[in-house]
Amino acid sequence: MPAERRPRHITDLALWKREGRKLAMLTCYDALFARLLEGSGVDLMLVGDSLHQVLGGHDTTLGATLDAMIYHAGAVRRGARETLVFIDLPFLTYQVSIAEAVRNAGRAMQEADVHGVKLEGGRHIAPTIQALTDVGIPVMAHLGLTPQSVHQLGGYKVQGRDAAAADRLLADAKAVEEAGACALVLELVPTALAKRVTAALAIPTIGIGAGPHCDGQVLVLHDMLGLNEGFDPKFLKKYGTLAGATRDAVRQYVDEVQSGKFPDKSHSFE
Ligand code: KIV
Repeated sequence: MPAERRPRHITDLALWKREGRKLAMLTCYDALFARLLEGSGVDLMLVGDSLHQVLGGHDTTLGATLDAMIYHAGAVRRGARETLVFIDLPFLTYQVSIAEAVRNAGRAMQEADVHGVKLEGGRHIAPTIQALTDVGIPVMAHLGLTPQSVHQLGGYKVQGRDAAAADRLLADAKAVEEAGACALVLELVPTALAKRVTAALAIPTIGIGAGPHCDGQVLVLHDMLGLNEGFDPKFLKKYGTLAGATRDAVRQYVDEVQSGKFPDKSHSFE
């Protein structure tokens, strides 16, 4: 997709929703992939705190630090100048007080030069969303399975399955929109509930494991490229097999080094 067809401003997100245009978002953690993603027409990039799991090898996102997020987000922005980039605010950088949230989100905006922040939670975090948007920081909200609460939720499970939980999630969605959120990630939510939330909001919903009725979709880049072997949840579609391709290339390199085939004359200096 040519760059001019991407959402260029935060205000384009609601416009795209009104026009019924679907948003394709992917996580991105570095400049090299950011360049590739931008060249492939992705609409939005998310520097997710999932990097603490995917790159850091941890079981949860809880240990991600603001410094690490800012480092990775800065790299993504340097790789993709034309694409809207959001950064996840890590655990405990926005829950302690509104003043801390504004300070930390402001640091992310200033130091990583991103377009907006993402944070998890519904009605209880709405005053924080309001405070951030009041100082000009765009906020993407996140409901359903909120990974920073994985222990409280008892694991990575579908949320909002019964009627009361579904009603609570809908009320949370309306509260974050009312507080000024510019988009809402819905993670691991039944299709019918995601459809209901999407119909109730003027801001776009971006689903992961939330079915086809959301206004956009997001996947973790390394998962959809097939780099994260052994991770096969029902919602994930793998569009590549890069783990196998990487292993094949590395095996060939090891063989050639060990056999003396590499470097040959064409890869050596006279
Ligand atoms: O951290 C992350 O990558 C996310 C996406 C899965 C939405 O929050």
